[in-house]
Amino acid sequence: MTKTYAVIGDPIDHSLSPAIHNAAFAFLGLDCTYIAYRIPKGELSEGIESLKLINIAGFNVTIPHKIEMMKFLDDMDEDCKTIGATNTVNNENGKFKGYNTDMNGFLEPIKQRNQSCKDSNVLLIGAGGAARAIVAAFAKEKAHKITVANRTREKAEELVKFANNLGLESDHTDLVNAGNTTGNYKFIVNATSVGMKNNTSPISTRMINKDCTVYDLVYMPVDTELLEQSKKQGATIIYGWEMLLAQAMRSFEIWTKRKAPYEAMKLTLLGRF
Ligand code: ATR
Repeated sequence: MTKTYAVIGDPIDHSLSPAIHNAAFAFLGLDCTYIAYRIPKGELSEGIESLKLINIAGFNVTIPHKIEMMKFLDDMDEDCKTIGATNTVNNENGKFKGYNTDMNGFLEPIKQRNQSCKDSNVLLIGAGGAARAIVAAFAKEKAHKITVANRTREKAEELVKFANNLGLESDHTDLVNAGNTTGNYKFIVNATSVGMKNNTSPISTRMINKDCTVYDLVYMPVDTELLEQSKKQGATIIYGWEMLLAQAMRSFEIWTKRKAPYEAMKLTLLGRF
């Protein structure tokens, strides 16, 4: 019988996940289908009930449900527990097990470039949901220190505590100061949504140099202002779509226990831009 997978969230109409996963199912000839299902904030409980009724095989979770979904899990893996949020759920004999593929999905493009996070200084711009998985990733890789720059100071302070609890040294700064000190960091990561709509960078790029690796989680447009300027100044750059693809591949592998078809998924993803 056809297995049904889904992505839940709101908004969901521009999600690229159905295209990527359906391409992968087709490529491997699996009798599976993947749908986008809009569940508004506050309606997660009813939404989950409907997924159970159609015997959902597995699903991705996105904004705004990544944290609240934890309440509905029967079991979870270590990464999910550490981060306190889930983006991938697998139906294992009627029980929902939560995973978080954002952390390893984030690290994958760094590893592909043979770069090491160990003992590195990191500047993380943003302190929302996506930023937590990134802090957990650098903690796991034994970075030296992570500096959080965020518009709202309280949220930066919370994230610093989270990092400290994971054994990672951390402090915070504001966006202006961050822009003036970018030369001090090996990794500069944008985990805000700035750059998505208009051509702006969350911080000044003036001091970014060839020793920096600049990673933007924004994937639309592909070439954000931050990446464009950083590239001109000789920095190594990592595109947001690379993480999007890597986390999708991990989800696919959890569900199907098959190696995800990289090229088919990448071609489909890039074809959508
Ligand atoms: P996500 O789950 O994608 O991380 P989020 O939790 O809403 O989304 O977090 C969005 C991040 O982008 C936050 O760090 C937010 O800063 P605040 O904590 O001050 O809200 C940041 N952000 C969004 N719009 C911004 C803007 N115009 N300027 C600076 N930071 C912005």
